[in-house]
Amino acid sequence: MKIAVLPGDGIGPEVTREAVRVIEALDLGIAMEEALVGGAAYKATGHPLPPETLALAQGCDAILFGAVGDPDCDALERHLRPEQAILGLRKELTLFANLRPARVFPGLENHSALRPEVAGAINLLIVRELNGDVYFGEKGFRTTATGEREGYDIMSYSESEVRRIAHVAFQAAQGRAKRLCSVDKANVLETSQLWRDVVIEVSKDYPDVTLEHMYVDNAAMQLVRAPGKFDVVVTGNLFGDILSDQASMCVGSIGLLASASLGERQTDFGTFGLYEPIHGSAPDIAGQGLANPMATILSAAMLLRHSLGLGEAADRIEAAVAKTLSAGVLGRDLGGSAGTAEIGDAVLANL
Ligand code: NAD
Ligand code: IPM
Ligand code: MN
Repeated sequence: MKIAVLPGDGIGPEVTREAVRVIEALDLGIAMEEALVGGAAYKATGHPLPPETLALAQGCDAILFGAVGDPDCDALERHLRPEQAILGLRKELTLFANLRPARVFPGLENHSALRPEVAGAINLLIVRELNGDVYFGEKGFRTTATGEREGYDIMSYSESEVRRIAHVAFQAAQGRAKRLCSVDKANVLETSQLWRDVVIEVSKDYPDVTLEHMYVDNAAMQLVRAPGKFDVVVTGNLFGDILSDQASMCVGSIGLLASASLGERQTDFGTFGLYEPIHGSAPDIAGQGLANPMATILSAAMLLRHSLGLGEAADRIEAAVAKTLSAGVLGRDLGGSAGTAEIGDAVLANL
C-alpha cells in the first residue's frame, strides 16, 4: 500500500504533518512518498503540478492532500496558479465524486454558529460533482462591442457527467437515511434543467430513495434553518463548493470537514482517491501552528476506509478525534487554545 503525500502551501504542510503522524502511529505498513504541489511546486519548478507529482499520484493507491494557494501567486497567469494543481489532479485522475460529510461531534453542539439544538441534528453528506460545471468550461476575456473588457466562464454539464454523480449520490443515500436532495438552479439555468432531468431519470433505479429537488438559494437558507433535515445532498461543482464551506460553520469550524474525491478506478484494496480537508491554505494563520488539523486527520481516516480497505483503522481515528474534541482539546477556530501539534498529540494519545 502506498500513499502520495502532497502537503502544498500555507497551513497545508502543518495539517498534513499531523495526519501523517496518525497514519504512522497505526503501524499499518503503508509506504508514504511526499511531493511538491501548488505554489511550493511553482516556486521550485515553475509549475504548480509538476509531471513528477502527477506521476507519483497516479502510481499510488491514494493521495493525501493538504491545501494549495499562495497570495504571492495570485497575479500569475491562471494556468500557473497553485489552485490549478488541485483542479488538475481532480480532472487528470477523473476524480469526479467529492464526498464531504458534515456532522456535529458530541460535545461540540455549543461551538456551532447555530443554536445547539439545531446544530446537534446535523448529519449530512454533500456529494459534489468535481470534474465539470463552470469550473472547466471555456473561459477567457474578450472585448465587447462598446470596447470594454468582459470576462466569461461557460457553465455546462453533459448527461453522462450528471448521470455518474447521480448514481454515486443515490448509492450513498441507500447506505444512509435514504433521502437525497438534489440542489440546482433550474428556475434560471439550462445546465440545471438538464441536471434535474437526468437526476429524475436516474432516480428510477433507486425506488427506495426519496428524492427531493431544491434551488440553491433555498438550500443555503435551509442549511442554516434546519440542517438536520438533510441526509445526502447532490449538487454541481460550484454550488457544492459554496454549500460545503457553509455546512462547515453549521458544524462548528471549517477545520473539521474532511473530503474524499473518488472516481471509478479500483486499486488492489479499494477505490483510488484523493483525500483533503475542504479548507484552503489559510495564509492568514499559516506558519503559526494555529491551524486545526482535524479535517486532514479525518481525511486520512476516509483514505484508509475507501482506498485501502482499512475500515477498522479508520474507525479508530474517528473515535480518537471524537474523544479529543469531547475532552475539550480545541483550536482557536473553536474557541479553544490548542495549537496544531497539541491537537495532533491528543489524537495520537487517544488512538
Ligand atoms: P481558507 O479555507 O484557506 O481560509 C478561510 C478562513 O478559514 C481563514 O480565516 C482561515 O484562517 C480559516 N481556516 C481555514 N482552515 C483552517 C483550519 N484548518 N484551522 C483554522 N482555521 C482555518 O480559504 P481562503 O482564505 O478563501 O483561501 C486561501 C487560499 O486557499 C486561496 O489561495 C484559495 O484559493 C486556497 N484554497 C485552496 C483549497 C484547496 O487546496 N483545496 C481550498 C480552498 C481554498
Ligand atoms: C475546494 C477549493 C477549490 C475548489 C479551489 C482551491 C480550486 O475551494 O477544494 O473547495 O473550488 O474546488
Ligand atoms: Mn472550497
